[in-house]
Amino acid sequence: MNILILGGGGREHSLAWAILQNPKSDRLIVAPGNAGIAQIAECADFDINDGAQVVGFVVENAIDFVVIGPEAPLAAGVADRLRDSGVLVFGPSKAAAELEASKAFTKAICDAASAPTAAYGHFTDAEAAKEYVRRQDVPIVVKADGLAAGKGVIIADTLAEAEAAIDDMFDGSFGAAGAEVVIEEFMTGEEASYFILCDGMDVLPIGTAQDHKRVGDGDTGPNTGGMGAYSPAPVLTDAIAQKAIDEIIRPTMAEMVRRGTPYQGILYAGLMIENGQSRLVEYNVRFGDPECQVLMMRLGAQVLDLLLAASKGQLAKVKPNWADDHAVTVVLAANGYPGNYEKGSVIGGLDALPQDSMNMVFHAGTATHDGLIVANGGRVLNVTARGDSLTEAQARAYAMVDKIEWPEGFCRRDIGWRALG
Ligand code: AMP
Ligand code: GLY
Repeated sequence: MNILILGGGGREHSLAWAILQNPKSDRLIVAPGNAGIAQIAECADFDINDGAQVVGFVVENAIDFVVIGPEAPLAAGVADRLRDSGVLVFGPSKAAAELEASKAFTKAICDAASAPTAAYGHFTDAEAAKEYVRRQDVPIVVKADGLAAGKGVIIADTLAEAEAAIDDMFDGSFGAAGAEVVIEEFMTGEEASYFILCDGMDVLPIGTAQDHKRVGDGDTGPNTGGMGAYSPAPVLTDAIAQKAIDEIIRPTMAEMVRRGTPYQGILYAGLMIENGQSRLVEYNVRFGDPECQVLMMRLGAQVLDLLLAASKGQLAKVKPNWADDHAVTVVLAANGYPGNYEKGSVIGGLDALPQDSMNMVFHAGTATHDGLIVANGGRVLNVTARGDSLTEAQARAYAMVDKIEWPEGFCRRDIGWRALG
């Protein structure tokens, strides 16, 4: 079959890598792709957030199946346009993508589904929000309702900080995303991510992971999009995971059906775990980046069959085959990230690295210039390895990192520490 993946980061490189291993894939195109993806698949350039352009490309190239990587095309309704045109697509409708696009929407769904999550208030004006925080304890969490590129969450340690965050949001610091604000109880515990395929009716968990959001070793410094991840996440034990499915995921799916907007795609549940119990932090309607890279490393070729089953409403017919293994991905980022950084520095040593089912360097933000691979973003490479233990996977990943010649980049040296400590 002819397959189109939308997106151009490490997440999409790993999806492409896994899908290509499946004999069902005849032709694979990734839009826009990147320099690493271009080594294994065709790349195409058009506006992936414009449904009409995506449908036009699909028709012209006789595409049989579209996999949508990032949230922006989902929030823009690209999956709806494809489905309306009779194209098989992996990814939720615009209405179902509200689970990521609006925090107030997700909280309302949790209320209706009685799913455990932080207590909250939802506000459309600053005065009411401030009046609410004055009656709560600190720390307290102030969130812009809409998509804010991962930056719309402020954990306030004092009342003054909370009030300042509220003013900032209503004054437009986060653009339209901050026109409404959700204020939440601060939850303690350990965070983990749970990835569940959904076909509207059925759900199928396909893995757990933990990422490292802070830029520095020991989880210090500013937040990033994620500096590394590992799978599985030992804190998400089978018992806690099953409880999350029964108390959070299935009731959420049932509520989406009840509202006439069934959810189809990957549901990425951020969970806070404490005392054998998990509570929902947030939903994302896409694979995590870099969590996807460790999941793809572990699942390999079967991913295409799983995504197809989810898209066709046939999840009840499939099951993931799990090896009892571990995967780690280390993000190499440009010096300065998540602040200002330069593009264009040359990355050497990649050709000498193994590229197989145990070792892969996924490209997140790269381009080619005069035949050389150059940095073209903040997060640039995802050095990913698999092993029988987390220790082995981690050692393999860092052995590859150490062979990459890129003085203009850096990485954390402790990916996996929580699970190893
Ligand atoms: P979100 O964008 O909702 O995932 O929030 C980003 C990060 O903020 C989460 O991954 C958590 O680490 C933290 N966070 C969000 N909400 C809460 C909460 N209610 N309690 C504690 N930490 C939170
Ligand atoms: N790594 C976090 C995310 O993809 O949202």
